[in-house]
Amino acid sequence: MSVRTSIAKITTISILLSFFSSAAIAAGDVAAGQAQAVTCAACHGQDGATAIDPTYPNLAGQNEVYLTRQLQMFQSGERNVALMSAQLIGKSEQDLADLGAYYASLPAKHFEATGSDEDIKAAEGIYKGGVIAKGVAACAACHGPNGAGNAQAGFPAISGQSVGYTIAQLTDYREGRRGTGDAYGNMMRGVASGLSDGQIAILADYISGLH
Ligand code: HEC
Ligand code: HEC
Repeated sequence: MSVRTSIAKITTISILLSFFSSAAIAAGDVAAGQAQAVTCAACHGQDGATAIDPTYPNLAGQNEVYLTRQLQMFQSGERNVALMSAQLIGKSEQDLADLGAYYASLPAKHFEATGSDEDIKAAEGIYKGGVIAKGVAACAACHGPNGAGNAQAGFPAISGQSVGYTIAQLTDYREGRRGTGDAYGNMMRGVASGLSDGQIAILADYISGLH
């Protein structure tokens, strides 16, 4: 696939997804979400960005469409993580949307990359240009030049994320362990399938420091 066709494809996907997202996700209420988030803070931290385990994700400042969609997928089992699904038993669609709105309203955390200059440069090359020989699309095309994602399309922000969590997720996509549901059509499995463990490790560090 040429670079031009892949960009055209990504654009089509983005337009389709922004259309779906406005149709399928109810608007959440921040205050109602905050009232429910007491139990979530036990693992994700009071501020949504100080998790009790370094491999747990930061939620603060993530976009609402993405957050709500992930909660729906945990609840349905499409993203099969027992630890998270157990938190959502008995919650309504509106409850999930409220939680999504609450975490999206919190300020995101920023970190600095810790890798060597050489690793950061290599990671930046993949982030901005992909790995053409392996068919890996540029991360920036969907997650933005600064890792802020695309809120309208529900593409996640990936900057300011815990390095351990990012490594685990990219590996899980590659190995087919993370379910992505119909909304995203396995986009990330395709991307991750062309990445080596070493590339995943340097990317995770580089991304954590983007802002
Ligand atoms: C017992 C610990 C625990 C509790 C309590 C908990 N979570 Fe989680 N959460 C996790 C872990 C671990 C993950 C990462 C799962 C994985 O490996 O994919 C996660 C992932 C998530 C994600 C996906 C983030 C992303 O970037 O894709 C969201 C959203 C989330 N949790 C929201 C919540 C909400 C809302 C609550 C409260 C109703 C909550 N969590 C309670 C442990 C917890
Ligand atoms: C075609 C668009 C697209 C491209 C290109 C892309 N991503 Fe993604 N990415 C997504 C979407 C959409 C999701 C959420 C999908 C889901 O829920 O499974 C996602 C999810 C992720 C996540 C999980 C975030 C979380 O909080 O759990 C990480 C990490 C990630 N991408 C990193 C990357 C990296 C690194 C690259 C480049 C090597 C990349 N992505 C390229 C669209 C893309």
